[in-house]
Amino acid sequence: MTPYTFARGLAYSNVVAASERVAWTVDDVYGQRRFDASAAIVPASWVGADGLPFLEAEDRLVLNHCRAFSYVHLLRNFEEFAPPHLAAAAADRWHDERARLRALFRFADEEMKHQQLFLRAERVLEESCGHAFGGYFDDGGLRVAEVTRAMLEHSPLARYLIVLALEWGTQRHYVESVRGAGAADALYADLLKAHWVEEAQHTKVDALEIAGLAETMTAEQRTAAFDDLVAIGGMVDGVFAAQAQAEAETLEAVRGRALSEEQSAELIRALHASLGAIMSGVGLSHPSFALVARELSTEGAAKLGIA
Ligand SMILES: [Fe+2]
Ligand SMILES: [Fe+2]
Repeated sequence: MTPYTFARGLAYSNVVAASERVAWTVDDVYGQRRFDASAAIVPASWVGADGLPFLEAEDRLVLNHCRAFSYVHLLRNFEEFAPPHLAAAAADRWHDERARLRALFRFADEEMKHQQLFLRAERVLEESCGHAFGGYFDDGGLRVAEVTRAMLEHSPLARYLIVLALEWGTQRHYVESVRGAGAADALYADLLKAHWVEEAQHTKVDALEIAGLAETMTAEQRTAAFDDLVAIGGMVDGVFAAQAQAEAETLEAVRGRALSEEQSAELIRALHASLGAIMSGVGLSHPSFALVARELSTEGAAKLGIA
C-alpha cells in the first residue's frame, strides 16, 4: 500500500470509468449560446478593481469581460504542456497496467478538448462583446511553445504539482461562478462546470502519479521539487503581468479613453494581483493541494507558504 494517505482508495480503473461517464463535447456545452455582454460575465471578485476611484461602471464592465477572456486564454495555453507531460509519463512505463495508461491518455485527450472549449470561448466572447481582447499568447504559437518548453524542463513531480494546483483551482472557480450574488454568466458557469467535472478525475490521476513518483525519490529530491515549483510560479507570474497589461490596453481601446500614467500603473498592479490570485493562488492555497504538499515535504510546502 502507498505510504501517502492522499493516494489511498484511488484506482486508475475507477478514474477511467468516471471519465467515460461524465464526458461531454464542446458542442454540448455551447449549443447556439452566446455570453450576455450587457452584464458581468465572471464574479466581480475575479477582477479586484472595484476599489479604483477613476474607473466608471462601464470601465468595470469591460474589465470584467477582459477577465473572462484572460481566464480562458491563459488556461488554454497553460494546458498545452499537459499532453506531452502525460505522454512522457506513459512512455516511461509503456507496458504498465492498462488502466493507468488509459487514464493518462484520456487525461491528455481531455486537456486537448479543454483547449478547444477555451478557444471557442475566446471567439464567442469577442463576438458577444463586439470587440477584440488583448492576449499574451500569439496566434502563431511562438509564446505557447516557449512556455511549454520551459514547463517540460522542470521535474515530473513539479509538473504534476503545478497541474494539481491548477486543477483544484478550477473547482473553486466553478463553485464561485454559481454561488450567490456575484455569480457568473450562465454559459460561462456551464463552461467552468464542464471543465471541473473532468478536472476532478485528473486530480485523482495526479495524486496516484505523485505518490508513485515520490516513492522513488529521497526526501531531499522531494523538497527540491518545490524549488522547481517556485520557479514555475515565477515564470507563470511573468505571463500574468503581461496579460494584466493587455487587459488595461483593451480597456483603453474599447472605452476610447486614456488613463494617466499613474492610473494605468495602479490599474495594472491591481489586475496583476487579482490574476495571480485567481489563477494560481486559489489552487496553491486549496486545502486538498496543501494536504498533498505537506505529506510530500513539510520543508517544501513551507516554500509555498503552506504551514
Ligand atoms: Fe483542463
Ligand atoms: Fe486537467
